[in-house]
Amino acid sequence: MTLAGKRDPAIRVALLPRDTNGYGTIFGGIILSYIDQAAAVAARRVTPHDIVTVTMKEVVFKKPVYVADLISFYAEVTGTGTTSITTRVCVEAERARSPRETVPVTEAEVVFVAVDKNGRPVPV
Ligand SMILES: CC(C)(COP(=O)(O)OP(=O)(O)OC[C@H]1O[C@@H](n2cnc3c(N)ncnc32)[C@H](O)[C@@H]1OP(=O)(O)O)[C@@H](O)C(=O)NCCC(=O)NCCS
Repeated sequence: MTLAGKRDPAIRVALLPRDTNGYGTIFGGIILSYIDQAAAVAARRVTPHDIVTVTMKEVVFKKPVYVADLISFYAEVTGTGTTSITTRVCVEAERARSPRETVPVTEAEVVFVAVDKNGRPVPV
């Protein structure tokens, strides 16, 4: 089951040929970067402090992403600790060549820590 149409993504983007790997599909590191940004969009609503990424867990790329696919990054906060904010990001690709086909690509848990001006953890 996909999330398309059920809620708004934190980020939606179509990527370019410059973002591809040697096989012509989108480079995984580009997707990771967007996952980090989408997670931050959700996490920053929880705290007025600056946040830094402490961990991204178990990112498995289940399907390839192609140039011009419309990629949606759905992010939500799943928990908070004293200084940490845990988020979940689900990534879906709407195929450029078949617009009604949306496939889950990957998902990840991303944890942030709220920090003060000296980069030290601070309660959220
Ligand atoms: C994030 C950072 C400030 C944490 O500093 P620290 O002294 O290790 O902090 P603590 O051990 O007190 O842990 C702070 C919180 O992070 C959580 N945490 C630390 N490591 C974690 C991990 N591997 N997974 C999940 N949570 C983790 C702790 O559980 C704690 O959460 P809580 O307060 O809600 O209980 C520090 O590691 C740092 O600056 N890292 C670099 C961050 C960065 O620059 N990221 C961008 C990419 S380079």
